[in-house]
Amino acid sequence: MAKYRIGLGVTGGIAAYKAVEVLRLLQKADCDVSVAMTRHATEFVQPLTFRALTDKHVIVDDYDPENPDPIAHINFSQEIDLLLIVPATANIIGKFANGVADDFLSSTYLATTAKVMVAPAMNTTMWEQPATQRNVTQLKADGVHFVEPVAGELACKTVGTGKLEDVENIVKQAISLLVQGPKSKAPSQEQVVETLDIGHGTLDLKGEHFLITVGGTREAIDPVRFISNHSSGKMGFAVAEAAAVRGAKVTVVAGVTTVDPPANVKVIRAVSAEDMHAAVKAEIANATVFVGAAAVADYAPANAADAKIKKDGRDVMTLELKKTPDILSEVSKNRHDGMLVVGFAAETNDVVGYARSKMEKKGLDLVVANDITKAGAGFNTDTNIATILTRSGGEIELPLMSKREMADRILDEIVRLRKG
Ligand code: CTP
Repeated sequence: MAKYRIGLGVTGGIAAYKAVEVLRLLQKADCDVSVAMTRHATEFVQPLTFRALTDKHVIVDDYDPENPDPIAHINFSQEIDLLLIVPATANIIGKFANGVADDFLSSTYLATTAKVMVAPAMNTTMWEQPATQRNVTQLKADGVHFVEPVAGELACKTVGTGKLEDVENIVKQAISLLVQGPKSKAPSQEQVVETLDIGHGTLDLKGEHFLITVGGTREAIDPVRFISNHSSGKMGFAVAEAAAVRGAKVTVVAGVTTVDPPANVKVIRAVSAEDMHAAVKAEIANATVFVGAAAVADYAPANAADAKIKKDGRDVMTLELKKTPDILSEVSKNRHDGMLVVGFAAETNDVVGYARSKMEKKGLDLVVANDITKAGAGFNTDTNIATILTRSGGEIELPLMSKREMADRILDEIVRLRKG
């Protein structure tokens, strides 16, 4: 019997042809796939293609006399473990978000209790429209999982975010979601690694154990105030998620973040630099790769007050700050044989020069340097622009791309370093 039953929904966009490859990969991963298409999708790919590959009727219209099942949207929706939409247009996202059920796929969405995963693909302006983003936010709140579109050259010859994520990544994320079973039950790392092996040699981090610091730290001034920074945790979580998908065991020490951590990674929370340092020390013995993606405060109030500090008529107040432990340097100094240490450098000027000096000072194997003044790079964005510096003097330029895509590019360099 197949491991999972998947309803693959194909909607009308240029990327519809990529759904064929998604179907093949799912079948190779031992999934039983049934396909439904919107009418516009059939303008891009013939239902016959999916029919030939699945040996099943491809549903486009419930009311089609050819349809062997008169209440297909009910039966189809109840016989699947996952409804996976590839590609998802702005239109289907809008219908799902607003409960519109005027065709087979949107009725199926309303009728299903299965998990739902959506892989959007569209022109950048359409993706970034407040209406689309509102619908995406609504669907996320409703529990729908997204395979975020990536940046790149689009069918309309423009460059930006809106390209369908790589088909292998879509399949890996879909299976990773299915492995989790019922929502409350988190999978073991081993279980995920086992099931994700779809035979493409993509588990290139199997056997590695990543320890990753993520997010910003908060340094208390008194019980109500603190010093912190704008870090969202998006870049570090993207690295964590990508490493887990590629077979690594992943532990994250997360400070303050504005986004949720990915599934399938162990998360330890830490608030201050001191807490983060303690958590890292407790976990480091098992790590084979350390990634310092956190924006750790370099200084903390020397004496945090136990009670709320009062103004007391003062016009000027001086805070005395003391240096926090440099977690990355400590890890690097005490590393065991074979451990790789990767740091980040967020700069505003002489980016490569400062990053290179950080690499030397902290004894790093790789540094991911970014100029946070560039549009589309830095804190709280979904995209980044960076240069990866290697010990051997290499400089790999990473143009504007999604943080998730960048995470894979960073991991590619880690794999390259491992191979020597
Ligand atoms: N880092 C750390 N512990 C600290 C400070 C930084 O682990 N106390 C790590 C970060 O996770 C990141 C790298 O070190 O990987 C950033 O280096 P750092 O020299 O601290 O950068 P800046 O704070 O930007 O330093 P500077 O102000 O000197 O530019």
